[in-house]
Parts: sequence; C-alpha cells; structure tokens
Amino acid sequence: MAGAEQEAVARRLRRQVEECRRLGSPLYAELLGRAATDVEVGGPAWEVLRGQRDEPTFSALGLRLMGAVNRLVLGGEEPEALAGWEELRGVLERRREVLRELVDLPVQTNEVGRSAALLFGFLAVAARTGLPLRTLELGASAGLNSNWDRYRYEVPGFAWGPESLLRLGEWRFSPPREGPKRQGSATVEVASREGCDAAPVDATTEGGRRALLAYVWADQRQRVERLEGALELAAAHPVVVERAPAAAWAADRLAVPAAGVATVVFHSVMIFYLPADERERLLGTIAAAGERATTAAPLAWLRLEGPGELAGLRLTTWPGGEERLLARAGYHGDPVELLEWPA
Ligand SMILES: C[S@@+](CC[C@H](N)C(=O)[O-])C[C@H]1O[C@@H](n2cnc3c(N)ncnc32)[C@H](O)[C@@H]1O
Repeated sequence: MAGAEQEAVARRLRRQVEECRRLGSPLYAELLGRAATDVEVGGPAWEVLRGQRDEPTFSALGLRLMGAVNRLVLGGEEPEALAGWEELRGVLERRREVLRELVDLPVQTNEVGRSAALLFGFLAVAARTGLPLRTLELGASAGLNSNWDRYRYEVPGFAWGPESLLRLGEWRFSPPREGPKRQGSATVEVASREGCDAAPVDATTEGGRRALLAYVWADQRQRVERLEGALELAAAHPVVVERAPAAAWAADRLAVPAAGVATVVFHSVMIFYLPADERERLLGTIAAAGERATTAAPLAWLRLEGPGELAGLRLTTWPGGEERLLARAGYHGDPVELLEWPA
C-alpha cells in the first residue's frame, strides 16, 4: 500500500497529466500517468522522486521529471527513453542516481510561439506612435520573444515579417470580425531590445540550449523545431537578458522617460510567478512611469497573461493610460483570436 508521501508525489504528477493532454502532449500525459501509478506501487519512478514532496506549487514536478529524462535523450545517452512507458521505466531504473540530481533542476522554458500573439501588440504601438520601439522584456528567460521582429509569420489571412531562419509554423488564427482585412505589411523598427529574468538562460551556450529544449514536450515536434530555429537565430542576434528581479529592473529602466522611441514593457506567462509584493511594486512602477510619459516619450505595457482557458493579450498606452484587450491566445501562442487589427 502506498504511504502518504507516495500518494502526495503521485498526486503532483497526476496534476500535470490533464494539462499535458489539454495542451496537446498525449505522450507526456500517458507517461506521467504511468509514472504516478509506479510511484504508488513503489517502482523506479518512486526511487527517483523519493524526497521530492516539499517543493513549491509552481515547480511542476512532472515537468521536471520529464525534462530530466529528456536531457538524457538530447545528450544521446538514452535515445529511447521517451519512446513508451517500458523504455522510460528501464531508464528510471538504470539511471536513478543521475536522474535524482537532474530532477532538482528548475523548469526552463522560453516559448517562442507566444510571439505570434505579442506581434500584434508591437504592431499596434508602432502604428499608433510612428516611433521606433525600445523593448524591455520582463521574465525573458533566454530573450527569444524579444527577437519577435526577426521571425516570419504566415497563416491564411495574415502575413508579416522578414524572410527568416524562423518561420513560426502553423497556428490557428481568427481575424477580427469587423474591419478591413490587412496583410500586415507595416515595417517596424526596433531601436533597442533588453530583458531581465530571475534565472536567465544563455541561448548562446550548449548548456542553455539543452536546458530549453529539454523542457519542451518531446512529442510536440512543431514546438521543438520552432525553438531550434529561434535558438539558431539567437546565436546570430543574442538578446542581453540581465539577471534581475522584474520589479527592480523595471524601476531602473523606467526611471527616466526615453524621448524619440516608444518604450514597450512586455511580458508573457510570467506575472503569476512573481511574489504578490513584487507584482504590486511592478504594477506601481509601470503606472508611475505612465504618468511621466509624453507624446515624444510614450510608454506601452504589453502582456500575454492568464488566468483563463486562453491568455489575454492586453495593451495599455500612455500618455492617457488607455487599456485594450487586443487578442486572446493559447498559452503556447496557438490559437490567436485577434479582436482588432493594429491601427
Ligand atoms: C513560464 S517562463 C516564461 C518565459 C518567457 N516569458 C516566455 O514567454 O517564454 C517564466 C519566467 O519568469 C521568470 N521569473 C520568475 N520570477 C521572476 C522574477 N521575480 N523576476 C524576473 N523573472 C522572473 C522565470 O525565471 C522564467 O524565465
């Protein structure tokens, strides 16, 4: 019979089974479900995860386990580890000690599919201000979404961007019901791009690339390929991501309005990772910077965040402080339901 500790670990794994199924990874849903049962019967999954019961909510034990195994796959050490439960079970048994260490590493993600939604916010700021953009990304991870203007976006009804190493691939796109159809030919100048993260990933190192690839669900080929393309592009166009907490970094960067550019503070799927007091400080900093903004030095706050089944793409612009919901989008960027064309 399973002890209380085993049951708690199994519950943590099962929590991610539903999420993986909903977000399109039947393989991880299956493997995590089997691993949860294996924990309950005291099998090799339990031997790897024993002692892992006290981690905070957001550290997603199931994703750390699968990421740990995927690191062995990507390193060529256990190429079959994610082929099915029997293969995974064998690897959990054989590689117990190394997996116990790897499972402690934090989940590192940088989902470049989110650029498919963020794009419309940047286009809206460029269209409204007519100014080059100075982008400041909070919780940027490796900064791959800061390279949004270097990607090519193309779906039925919309195309934008340069010929690029990275075509974003297919995603479901619904255009606004009202208004003329646009092909999005506008060019946008990015004057500067900077980011911060509490635990940045260096996309120019093999270790950084491996860490990011390891936490993408291995059966989601399009996401894997998209990330590989973005990493290749980042090798030629690295974005500087400073190690700093979002609120303090934003306060520093927004202290003085920047004239001649539209400053865009943006973030995706990060706000709920901030402790409540930091989140409040950040919102206060942005609002205060908004008060200082002028037509010559405007400020925009663009974010793709939950809660909800779909994330909301919201844009607030100063002077004025007008807030708009521009789109709804999936947490990996697909689908994008655009509510208004950038204008
Ligand atoms: C789910 S990831 C999203 C990364 C990226 N924004 C994207 O959309 O791919 C959340 C990120 O927030 C970062 N983060 C968490 N707390 C933070 C904080 N207090 N300040 C800055 N970054 C933080 C994490 O390190 C992680 O890179």
